[in-house]
Amino acid sequence: MFEKDRFIEDCRAALKESNAHAAIRELVERAVSEPAQVVRALGEPKVSGVDTIYRADDLTILNLCWGPRMVFKPHDHRMWAVIGIYGGREQNTFFRRSESGLTQHGTKELSTRDAIPLGKSIIHAVTNPLDQITGAIHVYGGDFFSAARSEWDPKTFKEQPYDIEDRTPCVLSRKRTSASAQWRPGHKAGRARTRIFRIRHYSATEQITDRSNYQRLTRHRYLITLVS
Ligand SMILES: [Fe+2]
Repeated sequence: MFEKDRFIEDCRAALKESNAHAAIRELVERAVSEPAQVVRALGEPKVSGVDTIYRADDLTILNLCWGPRMVFKPHDHRMWAVIGIYGGREQNTFFRRSESGLTQHGTKELSTRDAIPLGKSIIHAVTNPLDQITGAIHVYGGDFFSAARSEWDPKTFKEQPYDIEDRTPCVLSRKRTSASAQWRPGHKAGRARTRIFRIRHYSATEQITDRSNYQRLTRHRYLITLVS
């Protein structure tokens, strides 16, 4: 049975293994093999965003809820990662650096109960293809928020430092129904309208006063704002 504190302890212990990445993959795989237990422990996803479950210099654990139809531009992590899906679907597109900036070299679609390891040098873009929130546990072998990283313009593939303060707009679709009503452990695509949102980062101490915000998240550092 998935328990948040136990999972953190297990991940910390796994860091001491000779192959910490593989050990954490096993933990994540086991966790998402019982998606209902993850939802029971972390709560049913009601808004899109990032909840930091644990953060240290050598380990970050995130509960990441991708908004319906959200598209996240190419980026790297510069640390190993494990992604496990406990509800919904996530499409990964992988890239390699090339003379033109980036060249696509593969895709991988993850569904509920899937867990994959990502290497330190991976560059990927992520899409939630569904009209509901996709819930995922992301574990990183370092401090995900403070590490220097790159991102690429999705049209020109121009590399630039990851700018956590001013993200380029993400494309999302959402039904007019509430996100909670859309949440299902299974997943079924439906019709949705497309809207443009901007994701901005806020420090934990900063007050969020923008009334146009689409969703204010409580324990994380992102605000998703309607652009058009
Ligand atoms: Fe990523």
